[in-house]
Amino acid sequence: MYKRLSKMGSSSGGKKKYVNFRNRQRASLSFFIVVMFFGVFGIIVFTEIFFIDERGRAAGVIVRRGSLTIQHKQDKNSDYDDGFQSDDYISIRVGAAMMNDDTLGALLIGGRPPVALPVIEHSAPSASKVYAEHFLPPYPENSTLIEGGWQNVNNTRYKFFVFSAFYDERKGQRIIRVIGATKTRGAERVWCRLWYKAGEFNSSAHVSITVPAKIKVIRENWNLKYSACFVMCPLTNKTIPAAVSIVARTRDPPANLLAVINNHNETALGMASAGVSGPAQYKFGVCVKPLHFEYNRALQIMEFIEFNRILGVEHFTFYNHTIGSQVDCILKDYIDKGLVTVLPWKLNMASQKDIRTEGLFAALNDCLYRSMYKYSHLLLIDLDEYILPKYNDTLGQMMDYLSRRLKSRTHGSYSFQNAFFYLQWDDDDFVYNFEDPVAANLVTLKKTRRKTKLHPHKQRSKYICRPEMTVEAGNHFVWEFIPGHGTLNVPADTAILHHYRICEFGGDDCIKASSTVDRTAYHFKDSLTGAVRAAYNRLTDKCALPELTMPSGKVLNKLMQFLKPSLER
Ligand SMILES: *[C@@H]1O[C@H](CO)[C@@H](O)[C@H](O)[C@H]1NC(C)=O
Ligand SMILES: *[C@@H]1O[C@H](CO)[C@@H](O)[C@H](O)[C@H]1NC(C)=O
Ligand SMILES: *[C@@H]1O[C@H](CO)[C@@H](O)[C@H](O)[C@H]1NC(C)=O
Ligand SMILES: *[C@@H]1O[C@H](CO)[C@@H](O)[C@H](O)[C@H]1NC(C)=O
Ligand SMILES: *[C@@H]1O[C@H](CO)[C@@H](O)[C@H](O)[C@H]1NC(C)=O
Ligand SMILES: *[C@@H]1O[C@H](CO)[C@@H](O)[C@H](O)[C@H]1NC(C)=O
Ligand SMILES: *[C@@H]1O[C@H](CO)[C@@H](O)[C@H](O)[C@H]1NC(C)=O
Repeated sequence: MYKRLSKMGSSSGGKKKYVNFRNRQRASLSFFIVVMFFGVFGIIVFTEIFFIDERGRAAGVIVRRGSLTIQHKQDKNSDYDDGFQSDDYISIRVGAAMMNDDTLGALLIGGRPPVALPVIEHSAPSASKVYAEHFLPPYPENSTLIEGGWQNVNNTRYKFFVFSAFYDERKGQRIIRVIGATKTRGAERVWCRLWYKAGEFNSSAHVSITVPAKIKVIRENWNLKYSACFVMCPLTNKTIPAAVSIVARTRDPPANLLAVINNHNETALGMASAGVSGPAQYKFGVCVKPLHFEYNRALQIMEFIEFNRILGVEHFTFYNHTIGSQVDCILKDYIDKGLVTVLPWKLNMASQKDIRTEGLFAALNDCLYRSMYKYSHLLLIDLDEYILPKYNDTLGQMMDYLSRRLKSRTHGSYSFQNAFFYLQWDDDDFVYNFEDPVAANLVTLKKTRRKTKLHPHKQRSKYICRPEMTVEAGNHFVWEFIPGHGTLNVPADTAILHHYRICEFGGDDCIKASSTVDRTAYHFKDSLTGAVRAAYNRLTDKCALPELTMPSGKVLNKLMQFLKPSLER
């Protein structure tokens, strides 16, 4: 640059002036760019402060003053100028006692000032409440009451779905917690229509209490447009409603109807005795994220179910996005045996584009609340993952050991480090000694070479949680516990997560990593082979399962095995 300028400088004066002019122009251009930069930066900071979610403190509740104010304009034309003004207000008053100041403040900013309200205000609150609810659309008699299934919330600007509803009285609050999916930022305001049976004598009649909902987006959203969320409805009296509908406007006929699930009475069995004194009782449940892509790996799902049963798991919950015919048939068999629950999972959102992997965080948290008080411990794992204790026969023995040795009684979850058993690595030579094609095809017996280095906790780790102490479940760790509980990082010599898959970043480079042979699964070889063979035989005809064959490499490998010693000599 310098060289060029000085060269130019030595030429005629006119050219020099031109260069100066160009320089000045450049300088002012850079100045302009700097000003622009600060301008844009300022706008970003401004919006961050005033419009982006104000993450709630302890509870992580999201309150959106900014967006509510904006929404107010649009709402004014639709909701508030109609004949049901008074009902909305009553509902706010009903809910106000249970809501925190932020929410109420936001509602009043978004809503109307109390002064503008009609006569009703002067009458007794209970009388006016009944009067108000009476004028809202009735219980959707023709909807079937379901315990889990995606349903629409009508008249929202963005997609809004609800799946299931649970009574939750932990943390000193009494709420109906609805599992839903909605916009990650600036979730829309919705209302809860809580349905109560009108009386002992008339089971078909319902009365409602309508309260504003509080929305809490589940933290793991991968920055996509939609997220799994909790829609929380505060209860205003001692009775637990039988059902709930979520509506965008109180005057909308409810487009969804969810049975309120309350397992609380089933408690004594599970956790009350877990890890207290004497021989502890554990009840282990497994939750698996939605099955998709016509999932149809018959042997894999049998191995998964049978192996976990051997380890002490009593129940499995799956979500059915799309399942192939063989797995469908296998699961139905396990459903009949009471071992498996399969819930429909028809979420109208594009996986990975709109929402993370079929909305898996809604599934995991649905399973968490569905299992609460029924199972003392919950494994949230995938079909290619096994939490295998190194020296114990069952997960119960392992829990006993942890609670005695590591004083883990108050822990809400137990984290297990991830170990990749890459499928590209050769099968264990032992496989070729098995005469049984079932044994020779089980991934936990075939694949015994694992990456030596384990991932640290929280990175690809999986966990066992105690549902009663857990508020929000994530994929690799628990996001929120009931206060006073935390995670125990289980030492790798007690148990690790065996993860059977191909290289996580594609290609084959991963198998160059240093590796170790880990035959922990061989401890279960006979019981596992027996159990899977029995299941396979039982279902081969019924589910049209393919005949299993010895792995194709068998003959060659046996030959190699035979030749190897002589070659090395
Ligand atoms: C419910 O269905 C019945 C017949 O199936 C119909 O007569 C009735 O009008 C429906 N009620 C509502 C509220 O849609
Ligand atoms: C039950 O309540 C419904 C709705 O209020 C009413 O239409 C019906 O007649 C009642 N049935 C009985 C047996 O009282
Ligand atoms: C709570 O409200 C519902 C609906 O009004 C009513 O049916 C129920 O009896 C109430 N429960 C108590 C304990 O007041
Ligand atoms: C909800 O919206 C869908 C689609 O717009 C419509 O078919 C359905 O009738 C609505 N339900 C109610 C109860 O308004
Ligand atoms: C559930 O438990 C509570 C308190 O222990 C008890 O009052 C209630 O009757 C129980 N309900 C059922 C349906 O068992
Ligand atoms: C899975 O969903 C499909 C389609 O809705 C259904 O036909 C099938 O019966 C379901 N399978 C199970 C095991 O729930
Ligand atoms: C469970 O495993 C631990 C080591 O991880 C061992 O000390 C303990 O004795 C085992 N318990 C049983 C019942 O085998």
